[in-house]
Amino acid sequence: MKVLLAGGAGYIGSHTALALLNAGHDVIIVDNYCNSSPESVRRVEQLAGRPVELYEADVRDSSALLSILSGSRPDSVIHFAGLKAVGESVQVPLAYYRNNLDATLTLLECMGKTGVRNIVFSSSATVYGEDAPVPYVETMPRGRCSNPYGWTKSMIEQILEDAAVADSDLSVVLLRYFNPVGAHESGRIGEDPRGIPNNLMPYISQVAVGRRECLNIFGNDYPTPDGTCRRDFIHVMDLAEGHARALEYGAGRKGVEVFNLGTGTPYSVLEMLHAFEKACGFPLKHAFAERRAGDLPEFWADAGKAKRILGWQAKRSLDDMCRDAWNWQEQNPMGYQPS
Ligand code: NAD
Ligand code: UD1
Repeated sequence: MKVLLAGGAGYIGSHTALALLNAGHDVIIVDNYCNSSPESVRRVEQLAGRPVELYEADVRDSSALLSILSGSRPDSVIHFAGLKAVGESVQVPLAYYRNNLDATLTLLECMGKTGVRNIVFSSSATVYGEDAPVPYVETMPRGRCSNPYGWTKSMIEQILEDAAVADSDLSVVLLRYFNPVGAHESGRIGEDPRGIPNNLMPYISQVAVGRRECLNIFGNDYPTPDGTCRRDFIHVMDLAEGHARALEYGAGRKGVEVFNLGTGTPYSVLEMLHAFEKACGFPLKHAFAERRAGDLPEFWADAGKAKRILGWQAKRSLDDMCRDAWNWQEQNPMGYQPS
């Protein structure tokens, strides 16, 4: 299959590109590098031993996108292109709505004009909202999101559902990611956040490599077994392989289907820290701090539907996630920038 990855130079897109190339698919990437660089794609090509068709363009630029789609004629699109920093989305909500919604609308319009009928969308567990009981199951309604980033995901799911009602030829697969972490086992590609990491695993990795002094653990008085929040961390290569299955599934049908991509098992912030210390072999400085606004005590996936219907389940352990994150960070202390 020929697959266009919008936002494919980013963290999840680059790992998915590699999984797709390794499964024999052809990959086209469109990215404006607002949160990535072409270096990730160069490394994906090296690892796969095959080229990627790479375009620098904004997905909101309909004339650029039309010319790429009509020239390359992909069978399916995976839509990763979006801004994703929760805190920043509270500061600059309009930039988040503008980028994430416009990119989706332009992509759908251009797909319509060029006859591309299959789309897989990077959604998030955040769409279950603040009040959903755990574990999260796909049959639950979308809830109230705690921030503009989350609302963009919820709104885009609605837009895609409406588009599929109006066009019975459209196939939409909504993938709700839980907490993707880790890196490809080679250590050649990984997560490279700009500035101070917002998320737990990259922050821990940067403490381990000496770029940050101390991990602040946001809250140790939650109603959880050790008082710290619990999340469903999923290895990014398991997630990438989930995309390959979702793509094959979506290409053979019409209408909308939604899948959680998680492991079904939560680990706490402290458990993650200790697993990382085991992987890197030394203790990491940490301190307990105030709760972070908007954090939920715990959530994890009911991972049954993806297993039943896609025949996919996460295989990699918490130790694998930490080993691979550390391998990437140790080999690339400054990420894709030369150190
Ligand atoms: P990322 O920032 O590494 O990748 C997103 C890519 O999209 C980047 O390469 C960026 O340059 C590109 N992009 C953004 N806007 C664009 C535009 N208008 N035109 C062209 N390219 C554009 O993020 P990621 O972690 O790889 O996440 C991929 C997708 O998955 C995002 O939509 C994100 O919201 C979603 N998601 C991520 C997580 C996570 O924890 N990483 C969790 C749930 C959902
Ligand atoms: C966040 C986003 C979610 C997004 C997900 C993956 C919120 C409310 N949700 O989820 O929309 O899909 O990232 O990108 O922000 N922690 C620390 N110290 C740190 C960093 C994090 O203690 O320096 C804790 C957090 O308080 C949280 C846990 O680690 O309890 C996980 O945090 P994070 O990695 O940011 O993911 P989420 O908050 O689950």
